Amino acid sequence: MIKLWGGRFEKSLDYEIFNFLKSFDVDKYLFFYEIKIIYVYVKNLFYLKYINFYEKKIILNSLIYIKNNFFFDNNEDIHSYLESRLIKIIGELGKKIYIGKSRNDQVSSITRLLILKESNKISQLLSFIRKNLIYIAEIEFETILPGFTHLQIAQPITLGHYLLSWNEMFRRDHIRLLECKKKVNFCTIGSAALAGNNYLLNRFLIKKLLKFKFLTENSIDAVSDRDYIIDFANFCSITIMHLSRICEELINWSCNKFNFLILSDKISSGSSIMPQKKNPDLFELIRSKSGRIYGNLFNILTILKSQPLSYNKDLQEDKESLFDNIYTIKNCLNCFRKSILLLKFNKKNMYLSSLKNFSTSTDLADYLVLKGLNFRNSHFIVGTCIKYCEKNKINLFNITIKELKKISIFFEKDIFYYISLEGSIQSKNNYGSTAPNQVLKSIKRAKYLLNNIIINFKNDRI
Ligand code: ARG
Repeated sequence: MIKLWGGRFEKSLDYEIFNFLKSFDVDKYLFFYEIKIIYVYVKNLFYLKYINFYEKKIILNSLIYIKNNFFFDNNEDIHSYLESRLIKIIGELGKKIYIGKSRNDQVSSITRLLILKESNKISQLLSFIRKNLIYIAEIEFETILPGFTHLQIAQPITLGHYLLSWNEMFRRDHIRLLECKKKVNFCTIGSAALAGNNYLLNRFLIKKLLKFKFLTENSIDAVSDRDYIIDFANFCSITIMHLSRICEELINWSCNKFNFLILSDKISSGSSIMPQKKNPDLFELIRSKSGRIYGNLFNILTILKSQPLSYNKDLQEDKESLFDNIYTIKNCLNCFRKSILLLKFNKKNMYLSSLKNFSTSTDLADYLVLKGLNFRNSHFIVGTCIKYCEKNKINLFNITIKELKKISIFFEKDIFYYISLEGSIQSKNNYGSTAPNQVLKSIKRAKYLLNNIIINFKNDRI
């Protein structure tokens, strides 16, 4: 191991303290990005005439060799690892690469490159999920199920409409990821330790070669800023929150009480003691991952709180939770993606449940409004109808017109269409509502919006 510093020190660092201070175990995952940046940087040293053509060639070839031959070494961090290896291979020449550049500007750019790359993979997973949700929504555009408020049966809705509501959650996540990517897409190289560099480095060229979109404006901010990691953690937190809500729903739907969903063997586990059990473990585990992802957000927020500018060693702690976020969110999205096409709905039960709890009462009230009453009075009349039904142990589907007319003379025979499940959903015939033909229109828009964001991601690609 070759140390990057030590000239002014008389004693060497305590071994245990060294082990505590080093970050190589964690940032070794940034190896390829480190190579990429040094590769580009060396080319710039050549443009600066700091190294000649042959020296450039030797260093670049060595970098390629190192890239293909990674081995673990007890180094302080990924930066010292790469420099040590270069020096071991090419001697004094290897010591030339660090002019005008510090680990402080370097470490920010490598984590930025990582997030940009991983964001594209996450975007693909979101696209898969949204595509599949839209696909099933199209099949189930007129399947009826009960919608809930306060976890009580509220109004009948269409399953297609429901699945599209999940698509909307992921659409916002997708947009959030794209916005996050824009904030990450800044090159910090050239900011050096904090004050900038003494050389005429062409920062614009370095940015271009690394395929960053923008340059950071201020060298002090550039080495201190980790907002982009918070933005990414925020994206992960909201996405896992969405996943946890949907998984919770699927767990409810698969439980015996709801019985809306038949769990596929491919995504469920059994019990070691109760042979009859089939548990929704996948959805439960995804739901629980919100714990660690929220923890990761709080980790980075707390690391940055009250931290003076510019670089402090505290910032080294930004990586573990970032890596964990990337790994966890990709894993959850991928497993969720697999589960979507395996969802088997118990449509009969969904339909029968929709008939419960006077679910079309609001349609009864809306009917009276059509006949000229104001909504408050019609609400009261319908309340009277419900009271009557409850007393006589009947529901709105078998109350007679005679009985209804006794409560209000405005009721006519056509009321039974309005309060049927089919009539109820057909009446919700407005932009973004649950009527089957509106669902089909929403599907068209959903497909268009999905394609749009896929194109935006492509254009934003590094
Ligand atoms: N391992 C460090 C990190 O991850 C690299 C930057 C070190 N800079 C320094 N001034 N010690 O943040």
